[in-house]
Amino acid sequence: MRIVALANQKGGVGKTTTAVNLGAALAELGHRILLIDLDPQANATSSFGLQGTDGTSLYDPLLGGASITEKILPTRRDGLFIVPADIDLAGAEVEIARMPNHLTRLAETLRPLQADDTFDFVLLDCPPSLGILMSNALAAADELLTPIQCEYFALEGLVKIVRLVEQVRDSGVNDRLEIGGIVMTMFDARTNLSQQVVADVRKHFGERVYQTVIPRSVRLSEAPSFGKSILEYAPSGAAAQAYRALAREFIERHGSPATPRELSHTPASENLER
Ligand SMILES: Nc1ncnc2c1ncn2[C@@H]1O[C@H](COP(=O)(O)OP(=O)(O)O)[C@@H](O)[C@H]1O
Ligand SMILES: [Mg+2]
Repeated sequence: MRIVALANQKGGVGKTTTAVNLGAALAELGHRILLIDLDPQANATSSFGLQGTDGTSLYDPLLGGASITEKILPTRRDGLFIVPADIDLAGAEVEIARMPNHLTRLAETLRPLQADDTFDFVLLDCPPSLGILMSNALAAADELLTPIQCEYFALEGLVKIVRLVEQVRDSGVNDRLEIGGIVMTMFDARTNLSQQVVADVRKHFGERVYQTVIPRSVRLSEAPSFGKSILEYAPSGAAAQAYRALAREFIERHGSPATPRELSHTPASENLER
């Protein structure tokens, strides 16, 4: 199981959109994906048409009051599961901060999932602010997947993230953290700016930048209000094709650690078969 944090301290760059649609596309390829909504705004949660107000979030597990396996919900897509966010999660910031091991709460919460192999990948949809939840994500993750909007200040934003990753490594909280990939989002082929930004980012970050670029598409912004991923909402459009290509590239990069398979019978999977 590999833990991938969709992280960028900037809001509105496509973290949630990428978490939801990459998650759906990976599940379509036969991989078992757990998406964890770590943002109290709960945008990923509502993208699946879920409300997230019934105590089903990571709040209790983070505070040690429940196991994460109790909070995992199926989605309409086979192989794609979610731990929703709810308003309680906003309060978790303050309460976790009081705990002794406040930076490693999420890592500990995910440990029962590490022990069995129900999931191939856990995608953490991070909040933009660099608070306790985001810090916990950085401490728990094997790697970051950083969406960057094709706009003028893209490189400046990336430099900040690189520094952040170095700080996390230096602090000793997570010495294996790395930027596993950078995804350029909201690419507009009609503008020189988009082309120029992609070229600049590739020049500085080389191989770490995914070949697949996500186009600007109004379909991507419409899909969540129907509770659908782009693969259901506009399956043959450019945006769906892009997220499918991103999923294939993601799997190539991860050396296909997990081949599609039947759900193995494990404590967590029993919970999922409800
Ligand atoms: N490729 C895209 N084309 C058009 N709109 C997009 C695209 N990606 C994201 N959006 C929209 O931009 C806004 C911010 O995206 P979101 O994924 O919520 O960003 P973040 O999670 O980083 O804050 C949302 O309204 C979303 O629907
Ligand atoms: Mg978001």
